[in-house]
Formats: sequence, structure tokens, C-alpha cells
Amino acid sequence: MLSNLIRSLFAPKAPAPTESPANADVSAAKVLLDENSFQLAIDTLGPLLRERPDHAEALFIRGTAHLELQRHEEAMTDLGRAVALSPSEPRYLYNLAITHWALGDSEQTISLCKQAVRTSDFGPAHLLLANIDLHGEDYFNVLARMHSYLRPRTYIEIGVFRGASLQLAGPDTLALGIDPEPLLKQPAGPKQFVFSKTSDDFFANHDVIGKLGGQKVDFAFIDGMHRFEYALRDFINIERLCRSDSVILIHDCFPLDAQTAKRDRCTAFWSGDIWRLILLLRKYRPDLAVHTISTPPTGLGMILNLDPASRILADKLDAIVAEYLAMDYSVLDGRKRELLNACPNHWDSISALLDSRPARS
Ligand SMILES: C[S@@+](CC[C@H](N)C(=O)[O-])C[C@H]1O[C@@H](n2cnc3c(N)ncnc32)[C@H](O)[C@@H]1O
Repeated sequence: MLSNLIRSLFAPKAPAPTESPANADVSAAKVLLDENSFQLAIDTLGPLLRERPDHAEALFIRGTAHLELQRHEEAMTDLGRAVALSPSEPRYLYNLAITHWALGDSEQTISLCKQAVRTSDFGPAHLLLANIDLHGEDYFNVLARMHSYLRPRTYIEIGVFRGASLQLAGPDTLALGIDPEPLLKQPAGPKQFVFSKTSDDFFANHDVIGKLGGQKVDFAFIDGMHRFEYALRDFINIERLCRSDSVILIHDCFPLDAQTAKRDRCTAFWSGDIWRLILLLRKYRPDLAVHTISTPPTGLGMILNLDPASRILADKLDAIVAEYLAMDYSVLDGRKRELLNACPNHWDSISALLDSRPARS
């Protein structure tokens, strides 16, 4: 994870035609860093930093090269100085955070990442914070495990995007993907079908069971619009098509913080307010088994013991949406894991919950 995160900060950059000698050295060192020539990058910046020891960008690049070489003390000195010179530059804060993380100091790591996202929208810092909060395999891996374990005959996915999660469905699974603007070129296999519709439109105007060859939904993944009332309607529409032993997963149920959980997107890293759905299901549907698997980066809700005949949510839809829209994010303060009924992100724990489902009806 470490080097991926660092690398993601450097897009190859051509030197500007009329650069000063100092900027030319910095540009050359950046290129060397991109090429993994860390010692050469450090050597290139030596003369410049002897002449101008307060050149923040040169310190940042040299510190990053030291970090890549796992020379943490040198990295700490250069990156710490760069941060002191430019305290609101998120790249400097972030790589200093990574240095602390590499040395096992999570308190400093968190504090620096929070500083980085206070001044600008800096996705890598949000991602690192999320990876400190939630451990283990990410949601793609857990979803892939679920497909192998459940071997569903039928699968519905709301929110296809480029098809990365849809392609995890096995070749024997009849899979329907729904997205108003899917960006995949073609489905991964002959049993996968993508519908360019909003999920509300799809459920209102299609015979879904017919499209599933007369079978109920075995497995579903809700990952469409990041506002909880949309995910709630998706849940209601899908549960009707399930059996009691079917499994519904809902992405983005474990938010990182209030800023990245806003209903209107203002950060690259964004869960929206799907967390509200977990709280309302736990209140209004105590018959369901509602858990949030603590997968990075933003958790996976897992809903079991489904009741396709239940009309409680549909009948009270407007009142429930109004009630939960009024709820402030601060209700989660200090109680996030408890209120979301967090389940450890270990396959043994997850499969034990799956095994506790009612027998197939
Ligand atoms: C986070 S992406 C899905 C990512 C995908 N599941 C994956 O893991 O690779 C969310 C997708 O939801 C789609 N979306 C937005 N509103 C929707 C709606 N009302 N119904 C269905 N999909 C929707 C967007 O077009 C977007 O492609």
C-alpha cells in the first residue's frame, strides 16, 4: 500500500521550456523519482539544497526518495522541514504522514492526514485515514469471496460504473447490472446483462424475475446513487424478489467522517449518507440480520433473513426518509461501530453469519 500511495502523487511531468536552474533540478529529480532512481534523485538535489536549504519542493522530493529507500530518519527531517515551510501543502503533509505510518506512529499519521484534508480535498489522505480505521481485505475481495462461497444462480448489481464489481460474478451466475451511465465496454460474460437505466426505472418497468429466467434473486449488491433514500428504494425493490436465504450487500455503509458522508459530493473520496440506511433497517426491520462488514475503504452492509412479503418499509417510506434525513451525522460520534453493528472483516466471521441464514425456502 505504501508505495502505491506515494506513487499516485506523481504524474510524469515534462520540464517547462524556460525553467530556472533550480526548477530544472527539481523537474529532473521528479522524473528520476518516477523512474524509481531514488538515489540519483537525492544526488541531483544535493547542490540545490546546499545553496537553498529552504527550497520546500526540493526537500519534499528528496524526503520522498529517502522514504522510498526506507531511510525514515532522513525522510522525517526533509519532509518535516518541507511541512514547516509550507504547512498547508497536502502532498508534504501526506508523505510525512506516510513516514510516521511506516514507523508505527498512527496518532501522528492521523493528525497529519487530517491537516492535509482540512485545507484541500486530498483523496490519498482520506484513503489512508480509511485504511487506518478499517482493516483487512477491501470490498472487492470480500465481494469476490462471497461469489465463490454462495455460488449464486442469480445476481443483481445496482451501480455498475466500469464493471469492476460486476465481473466478479462467476460464469454460471446470471447477472443483471443496472446503471444509467455504465462505462464498461461490454459485460464480462454471456450470462451478464447491463441495463442503462436508473434503478427506480428498471424496477418499475421490467419483469425482473422474467429476466432472471423465472428465478428469484440469490445475491445482490447495491452500489448506485450515494443517497440513502435511493439505496432504501433499491433494497425494498430487491427484497421483494428474494427468498429468505438470499443475501443483499450495500456498499458505503461505514463512513469515514462527516465531510465525506455529505449528501452532495464535495470530496473525491465519498461515501454519501448510506449509513442512515443501516440505522433505519435496524430500527424498522428488527426481523432482518443487519451487519456492516468493516471492509476498507467504506464498509459493506450485509442484510440477511430477508422477508420478501414485508411491506413495512414501503408503507412508511416517506415518513422514514423524513425521519432519517433529519438525523445529524454526529449521532455516530463515538458509537459508529455499535450503531452500524460492525462485523470484523475476517472471512471466518463473515462466513459464520452467512451460515446462520435460514435454510433455503
Ligand atoms: C460507485 S459507482 C459503482 C461502482 C461499481 N459497483 C464497482 O464497484 O466497480 C456508482 C454508480 O452508480 C451509478 N448510479 C447513479 N445513480 C444511479 C441510479 N439511480 N440507479 C442506478 N445506478 C446509479 C453511477 O452511474 C455510477 O456508475
